[in-house]
Amino acid sequence: LASIEFDLTKVQEGQQVVIKWQGKPVFVRYRTPAELTRVIADDHASDLKEPQTDAERTKPGHEKYLVVIGSCTHLGCVPTFGSGDYGGWFCPCHGSHYDASGRIRKGPAPKNLVVPNYEYVSDTRVKIG
Ligand code: FES
Repeated sequence: LASIEFDLTKVQEGQQVVIKWQGKPVFVRYRTPAELTRVIADDHASDLKEPQTDAERTKPGHEKYLVVIGSCTHLGCVPTFGSGDYGGWFCPCHGSHYDASGRIRKGPAPKNLVVPNYEYVSDTRVKIG
């Protein structure tokens, strides 16, 4: 399938749902207010290897939802949420730490978790791809 739709009401605050798109896992995360505060505070942190603001990685008016490809940009392992030093994902393969915006902060991965092309087709539905 070139594109898929996802109903955001299926993901609860503080949770993520993993969907498959073109053979890859896609994380759809409904971030908590605390996660949002932390990622915005870090928008200009000096340890960002690929500097991007959180707003550049989300859609206006829908900032609480993060949609990223769940594949570590080092060698493609699937990172786990809730461990690591930055309140986001940790890749256990070689120790890459991502924040709750999916930005690489520490470890061998060179890039942020990739935000796929997607759009809101309604207030509660996204189309990925
Ligand atoms: Fe994730 Fe190497 S594949 S750190």
